[in-house]
Amino acid sequence: PSVAVIIPAAGSGQRFGATTNKLFALLDGQPLWLHSVRRLRQNPMVGSIVMAVSDQDRVHFENDHAADLRTYEVQLVRGGTERSDSVQSALGYLADAKERLVAVHDAARPLIRQRDLDAVFTAANQTGAAILTVPVSGTVRRDLGERTETVDRRHLHIALTPQVFEAGLLRSAYAKHNGRPATDDAELVERCGHPVTLVCGGTDNLKITYPEDLIVAEAILRSQLA
Ligand code: CTP
Ligand code: MG
Repeated sequence: PSVAVIIPAAGSGQRFGATTNKLFALLDGQPLWLHSVRRLRQNPMVGSIVMAVSDQDRVHFENDHAADLRTYEVQLVRGGTERSDSVQSALGYLADAKERLVAVHDAARPLIRQRDLDAVFTAANQTGAAILTVPVSGTVRRDLGERTETVDRRHLHIALTPQVFEAGLLRSAYAKHNGRPATDDAELVERCGHPVTLVCGGTDNLKITYPEDLIVAEAILRSQLA
């Protein structure tokens, strides 16, 4: 194994609007987070898996899913207020990990395919930093105040996860993180002057954000299994 995986799962799922964390919502009878964990564990490149969870959810993970956590060899760590705090906490746990690369994959992306994992791991192995992306599919307009204009979208991509980095690079990026908000791990790495390679992945790697995303996810899952 050459990739340690950090799974941020310590959000609250506000936009999903359920009474518990959206990650406990069921997709084909299993919680979203477990789909993500299983797919990562299936990849032969993956070694350590560390999942950041909130204090509030920890009891539920430990009481109701201890067997799954053992089976898939998932270590729980304490998440933080922002996603970046959760990643930082997991990085701390991985301080002595021997894997060359660290991948960060949102628990809320349960449909990640093996071929996308292989592609982004391979790219990160070569360049030190690689993330999965998809091309922007809609027409994008920029608001300039007195007028608006269409943006050329040929060079625009949407960042997904996994985001994969040489372990030392991600560690120093987080060590230098001064609290200035960053939208993802790639942005922090970039601030250290290291370029990030984009790997075009599948549009089926959906992030569950709103309740209706779950309906789409059920359909994608069926199509993946077909
Ligand atoms: N996450 C985390 N720690 C936080 C916030 C988010 O580990 N403090 C995780 C979420 O659990 C999720 C991933 O980061 O797996 C992406 O975040 P998002 O989709 O925004 O999930 P939530 O923050 O839970 O949802 P919302 O923003 O609607 O509250
Ligand atoms: Mg959020």
